[in-house]
Amino acid sequence: MNVTDLELSYPLRSSRLLLRPLAMDDVSGLLSYRSLPEVCRYVPFNPMDTETLHQRLRDSWNRRRLEAEGQAIVLGIELTSTGSLIGDVLLSWTSERHRSGEIGYVLNPAYFGQGFATEAAHRLLHYAFDDLQLHRIVARVILGNHSSVKVTMKLGMRQEAHLVENEWFKGRWIDELDFALLESEWRNSHKATTDVLPGCPPH
Ligand SMILES: CC(C)(COP(=O)(O)OP(=O)(O)OC[C@H]1O[C@@H](n2cnc3c(N)ncnc32)[C@H](O)[C@@H]1OP(=O)(O)O)[C@@H](O)C(=O)NCCC(=O)NCCS
Repeated sequence: MNVTDLELSYPLRSSRLLLRPLAMDDVSGLLSYRSLPEVCRYVPFNPMDTETLHQRLRDSWNRRRLEAEGQAIVLGIELTSTGSLIGDVLLSWTSERHRSGEIGYVLNPAYFGQGFATEAAHRLLHYAFDDLQLHRIVARVILGNHSSVKVTMKLGMRQEAHLVENEWFKGRWIDELDFALLESEWRNSHKATTDVLPGCPPH
C-alpha cells in the first residue's frame, strides 16, 4: 500500500498517552516548553513565542496526513490521565522510493525522566512501520544530548554514524549521531521492546 493511500486515524494511543493533531488552543501548552532555552539546546529551533506558535499551527503543524515525500506531521503528546499536552513528536517522510522517514520528539521538562518520550516515539514507530509501511526510520541526535541517545537505544535503534562537525548549529560546529531502525528489525524486536516499555500495548 502506498503511504498516500492512508488516512490517519487519530488519536494514536498507547496506554498512558495519546498522539493527536495539534490545535489552536494548544498554544499555552506548547509555550510552556517550546519557549524554554533548555528544551531548544539540541533542536533546530529557537525558543518560540505565541506568535510563532500560532503561525506554525496555521501552517506546517496543520498537516494531518503525509501526501508527498518531504512532508512531516507533528502530533501532540497528551497524557491520557490528565488531558495535558506534555510534548510533541514529528514524523517526516524523507523518501517515497526508499520508504524512509525520520522521527523527532520534544517533551515538557516537567515530564522528563518518566519514559514518556520513549513511549510516544515507540507508538510513532508502530504507526510508521505497521500502518505507513516505511522501510527505514532514522533519528538524528546532536552529540551531548544524552537523554535523546538513551531514547533511541530504548527504541532499539542502532547507531550508524558519528558525523564529525558536520553542521554549523547555533554558533558552533556540532557532531551528529545517526540512529536507524529497519522494518525487519522492528518486526523481530518490537515485541521485546514493548515488554520493557511501560504502557505500550502489544500491537
Ligand atoms: C530528549 C527528551 C525527549 C527525552 O525525554 P525523557 O523524558 O528524558 O525521555 P525518557 O524518560 O523516555 O528517557 C530518557 C532516558 O535518558 C536518561 N537520561 C536523562 N538525562 C541523561 C543524561 N544527562 N545522561 C545520560 N542519561 C540521561 C534517563 O535516565 C532515561 O533513561 P532510563 O529510562 O534508563 O532511566 C527530552 O530530554 C527533551 O524533550 N529534550 C529537549 C528536546 C530534544 O532534545 N529532543 C530530541 C532531539 S534529538
